[in-house]
Amino acid sequence: MAGPQLPHVGSEFYSMFKETVSLARYVFRNEKGVQFVFTGSGTIGMESSVVSLVSHGDPTLTLTNGYFGRRMLMLNQVHGAKADSLEYTEGNAADPDALRKKLRKSRYKVVFITHVDTSSSVANPINELVEECSKEGVLSVVDAVCSIGGIPLDFGRLGADIVFTASQKALAGPPGAVLVAASERAIQQMENRKAPIESYYMNLLKWKPIMDDPKMYLATPATQVLLALREAMKETKEEGLENRWSRHRKLGELTRSRVEGWGQKFVAEEGRRADTVTSFWVHREKAGEIQHTLENEHGIVVARGIYEDSDKMIRIGHFGILQVSELRAALDSLGIIMEKIGGIIRPVKVAKRMPAR
Ligand SMILES: Cc1ncc(COP(=O)(O)O)c(C=O)c1O
Repeated sequence: MAGPQLPHVGSEFYSMFKETVSLARYVFRNEKGVQFVFTGSGTIGMESSVVSLVSHGDPTLTLTNGYFGRRMLMLNQVHGAKADSLEYTEGNAADPDALRKKLRKSRYKVVFITHVDTSSSVANPINELVEECSKEGVLSVVDAVCSIGGIPLDFGRLGADIVFTASQKALAGPPGAVLVAASERAIQQMENRKAPIESYYMNLLKWKPIMDDPKMYLATPATQVLLALREAMKETKEEGLENRWSRHRKLGELTRSRVEGWGQKFVAEEGRRADTVTSFWVHREKAGEIQHTLENEHGIVVARGIYEDSDKMIRIGHFGILQVSELRAALDSLGIIMEKIGGIIRPVKVAKRMPAR
């Protein structure tokens, strides 16, 4: 990224871009579908899948068990869908049986699922959930921002119609690029829409020809970001996806064992805790102090909960190129702070499934 600015019209860019798209196919295991890479944050992945597939009044279903699921629901509402949801208490995973019943009762055009909701660290049973959609012939869209590159997801086998991610999490690139895999069926749905796609930049059909021929112009790409993303995905390929997934499993296990040792309560239910991020409750108003002290005294940054959870929750991101030894050192530091400041456990309400709306 620190090299000379790469012009987006030169031959160097064209070949770099083609290689980037082909590496994106590798990280998604997308051999037969359409692969997109363009500039924007993960939110562009969310919104481009909604706006490209959904017309005003289309019935959609969004499964929510955290902030990002709720945002997906909101995007459906913003774009005029008849947006229904299956909502779970933060920390509980989506239930394939409940989805099956819902899909048998009502007809939806698209189901939106978050693989790992980064706010609660819940890893949803993505294969089972998508399978329910496939059985009912309903399109499915998967937000894999917090999973691709860190947790097994095989686009070719999954059967989802759109899966998207962003450059900055388990792929370990800088923020600024969105990667989308789409099935032929999803593309056909977009092409056969009666109402036009109500976006220019987020219209996946407009990006499709650019993926085959980057000499065509749609919007100026952030070339340095794409250069770095290519490098990050080359490293992913060198490590090998299977090895990367197993390294992330070790990172997840190590983090969970430490959090348990500190006596803190996980946000995510047992058996559904992600290997890329771990969220746990801390005593009210202590999260900020823990975060600031860790950064000031040890130079290590962890996240807090989002919005209403910001004082009560710590979130540890353990993905990308992080090695087990590095994480161990960081957790040692956090352990010192937890002992000093964060030893009190927030009383946890018994998580109840919320009724479907
Ligand atoms: C699961 C999930 N979806 C979507 C997003 C939105 O991505 P971005 O912040 O890059 O726009 C995030 C960001 O953290 C995320 O974790």
